[in-house]
Amino acid sequence: MILKEAPPLKELSLNNYLFNDESLKLYEQYTLNTIEYIQKFLANRKFYKGDNLQNIQQDRLKAKLNNIEDSTPINKALEELNELYLKNAIAFHNPNYVAHLNCPITLPSIIADMITTTVNTAIETWDQSTSATFIEQEVVKWITNEFNLGDQADGVFTSGGTQSNFMGLLMARDHYAFQKFGINIKQTGWSKEISNFKIFCSEKSHFSIQKNAALLGLGYDAVIPIKVDAQMRMDTEELILAIEKTKQDGNIPIAVVATLGTTDYGSFDPIQTIGKITKEQDMWLHIDGAYGGCFVLTDTHKHLFKGTNIADSITIDFHKTLFQPISCSAFLVKNKDCFKYVSYYADYLNPIEDKDPERPNLIEKSIQTTRRFDALKVWLTLKTLGTKTIATYLEEVHFLAKKVHDYLISNSSFETVHIPELSTVVFRYKSEKNVDDITHNKINLSIKNTLFKSGKASIASTKLNDKIYLKFTILNPKNTITNLLNIVKMIEETGENYILKN
Ligand SMILES: Cc1ncc(COP(=O)(O)O)c(C=O)c1O
Repeated sequence: MILKEAPPLKELSLNNYLFNDESLKLYEQYTLNTIEYIQKFLANRKFYKGDNLQNIQQDRLKAKLNNIEDSTPINKALEELNELYLKNAIAFHNPNYVAHLNCPITLPSIIADMITTTVNTAIETWDQSTSATFIEQEVVKWITNEFNLGDQADGVFTSGGTQSNFMGLLMARDHYAFQKFGINIKQTGWSKEISNFKIFCSEKSHFSIQKNAALLGLGYDAVIPIKVDAQMRMDTEELILAIEKTKQDGNIPIAVVATLGTTDYGSFDPIQTIGKITKEQDMWLHIDGAYGGCFVLTDTHKHLFKGTNIADSITIDFHKTLFQPISCSAFLVKNKDCFKYVSYYADYLNPIEDKDPERPNLIEKSIQTTRRFDALKVWLTLKTLGTKTIATYLEEVHFLAKKVHDYLISNSSFETVHIPELSTVVFRYKSEKNVDDITHNKINLSIKNTLFKSGKASIASTKLNDKIYLKFTILNPKNTITNLLNIVKMIEETGENYILKN
């Protein structure tokens, strides 16, 4: 093979695309240019400019990566990006965005993420991360203390609640197999006993429990959904019955997942009772606190966390309720020895002979190899805002949800299903005309889609007993009851219009 001649060094160094001490001025300029576009994004008054099929089809074409052999000046590329992305981007900070679990984010967390990206620390080994390791460890220690997990507790940052829940179920499976059958799944893989393992969670728990059970080879059917009470909390009498039935069927109950803050209803499963059951049955207790976890900081919800000290593992998402940019989640475990179920010593990266407690390699706790330094944004947010401010934000969104609910129950055009325990409100528009449930489902979906497409408001929907409901997920403490009731008014008007037109 004939090697092409390398370009002369001078030509390469003229291309100041790489970040280093020489390109600092350009970095500054690019950043300032970018801020101009961010200003434009912020100047959009709506959460979304609204959509129509023609625009969507044009944007698909604009996204095409044509003519990329040669370079394009950054300003031109940013302009294209503005047209294609920033003008269409959904503004989570906009008070008319009340759809999913996306929060407005703190300024210190943005700055921290910029530093994380620029310095580009890879947090997995000491020789790539040095003191960044201590920052992650310190944030983990802070949150494990908030949950009273004890001095053997530890944790690791993950990409999100789904991955944190994956780690919880993996440890539940491997720990049970090891303790009860002496099976080392990590080493030897599958064995027939594992096929009988069953996990219990409320019927309102997040779908990642089923999905992760499948990824762990247990399958969706290994997850046994437990009925909830009127407040959407796991019914513990049903849990006891289901565990007994599982045993009678010859299966092996290994774990319960208790949710602190269900995705749709924000409900808190009774962890003290569930904890007692798991201890009696020698089962693993995983708490999915992806949504509700950060409310441990509040005065309003602190009491609901009594019992977290008995959990074997906990999921918490800072990108949902600590006002952090995506991704930012942690997986916590009561007994740090359990990280042995995911650890691996690679000769080229973290050789076992090099193990040094003073210079830890966080890779030993993670299922990822290369990993972002996401803990920095939490650290800087905690330092800058303090936990009291964060608690106030969370108490405010809870208060707003309750206020909206109070209004909805006083208006005969709406039907609600629960008293908000966190910051979601589930309700549906109900026409006063004689309309059946199938038509009501169509009306409510149409309300959601009409408001989204017009760029007026983004609300979510969910299903309960075959009925479609609308959902507000309120995570913006700067929202107001006046604004939220205005969205409710738009919903009512859109519903009435549907009836008139159909
Ligand atoms: C209760 C709960 N657990 C887990 C998840 C998954 O989190 P992520 O989207 O960060 O993977 C969610 C997401 O909404 C959730 O509400």
